[in-house]
Amino acid sequence: MVDVLLGLQWGDEGKGKVVDYLAEKYDVVARFQGGPNAGHTLILNGKKHVLHTIPSGVFRPGVINIIGNGVVIDPITLRREMENLIAAEVDFKDNLYISKKAHLILPSHRFLDAVMEADKGSSKIGSTLRGIGPTYTDKVARRGLRIGDIFAADFETRYNELKAIHLEMASIYPAVEFDFAAEDAKFMESVHYVKQYQFVEGEYFINQLLEQGKTVLAEGAQGSMLDIDFGTYPYVTSSNTISAGVCNGLGVSPSKIGEVIGITKAYCTRVGGGPFPTELLEATGERIRKAGGEFGATTGRPRRCGWIDLPQLKYTIMLSGVTQLVLTKADVLNDFEELYAATSYGYPDGSISEEVPYDMVNTAIQPIYKHYKGWNSSLEGIREFEQFPKELQGYILDLQAYLGVPFTMISIGPERESLIIREKEMV
Ligand code: GDP
Ligand code: IMO
Ligand code: MG
Repeated sequence: MVDVLLGLQWGDEGKGKVVDYLAEKYDVVARFQGGPNAGHTLILNGKKHVLHTIPSGVFRPGVINIIGNGVVIDPITLRREMENLIAAEVDFKDNLYISKKAHLILPSHRFLDAVMEADKGSSKIGSTLRGIGPTYTDKVARRGLRIGDIFAADFETRYNELKAIHLEMASIYPAVEFDFAAEDAKFMESVHYVKQYQFVEGEYFINQLLEQGKTVLAEGAQGSMLDIDFGTYPYVTSSNTISAGVCNGLGVSPSKIGEVIGITKAYCTRVGGGPFPTELLEATGERIRKAGGEFGATTGRPRRCGWIDLPQLKYTIMLSGVTQLVLTKADVLNDFEELYAATSYGYPDGSISEEVPYDMVNTAIQPIYKHYKGWNSSLEGIREFEQFPKELQGYILDLQAYLGVPFTMISIGPERESLIIREKEMV
């Protein structure tokens, strides 16, 4: 069976931390979409690790990690990640497998990302500028290069042909500085470096493992509200981040999907441009940002902060068929006397809805909030749900009742151990 773990908001829900915890119970962890726009943070023995392309099961000895065909790979970032793991004495060489069908991010994809974003001015997507959009564009336009192509004799020729197309495309935009000579050289060196790792026909590989009875955890990147089809378009990423993306991002059939575990923070964040109905633009937002250390794991940008948005969560739970929920960063709200959760959206014409509108960008949404009393105490040392302050228990049970799916895990700190499991709630 393939269980799925994915973010239900705008990313950075704490997927890396929870995947690392759960990985112990699985034989395989696989990334199925996205690329180095992702930044998944793990804190192990007090040391921080940030993964961008490599699955978060890599710290668990014996767990197989697969980078699936739906992922886009920048060999430069991948090499850096590999070297960081080697420096941290993580032994992953025999346990990491890369699908040959994963598309390659070229330096000229990053260049295109930069020129197109610069040209957008105030309507910037706020892309991480990792070349994600242009790479998926080339995949769909049927001219992309796949990582399996690095073994072809004419790889450099094909690289130069694609780069020439990118330069031509970029010529219609105002110029942006980019050191092609240095980036091309770094790219080719990195391609050479990654060749020593294991490349597979990912779809056969994973199905053979499933046939042998192995269990797989598919690790989502980004969040459901950044999904190319269902997110706050056009302020989205360029892949399907919902559970449906697992099937085409790994080559497994829908009948193989088991549990779908959705993660939400106890509040909400977003990094980059685009609508965010419950955003707190004043002191409270700043307080959450500070308490939660809400700065991007990939770009270091401050994350926008706001209250948890239940219509939004209900929508993404529906899209992915979520069967269990994880609440992260509950501890960040320890010092708040008052908490709020949006339960519906009010519109300028006076109507109220619990649904996410077609066009979130141009629709003025006035969230309607439910008030909660904060727990106003530390959660340190707590190991069981029943030991939580009554207010926190009440908050979680109320969200669960509204969302119709049980919270089976509550995270109260960034470390692997700070996770409260509600065994009896397991579905
Ligand atoms: P991801 O992209 O979903 O893997 O999340 P990120 O790693 O980008 O962002 C989550 C941040 O919150 C990281 O800095 C984590 O170390 C941290 N984190 C995760 N869970 C918790 C939690 O329960 N409490 C606190 N305080 N921090 C957490
Ligand atoms: P993880 O996996 C949060 C956002 C960017 C931007 C938009 C498009 O760590 O949760 P892109 O680089 O894909 O062209 O950017 O999506 N974004 C993320 N926000 N977490 C992420 O990943 C993100 N990956 C992309 O900020 O608004
Ligand atoms: Mg992140």
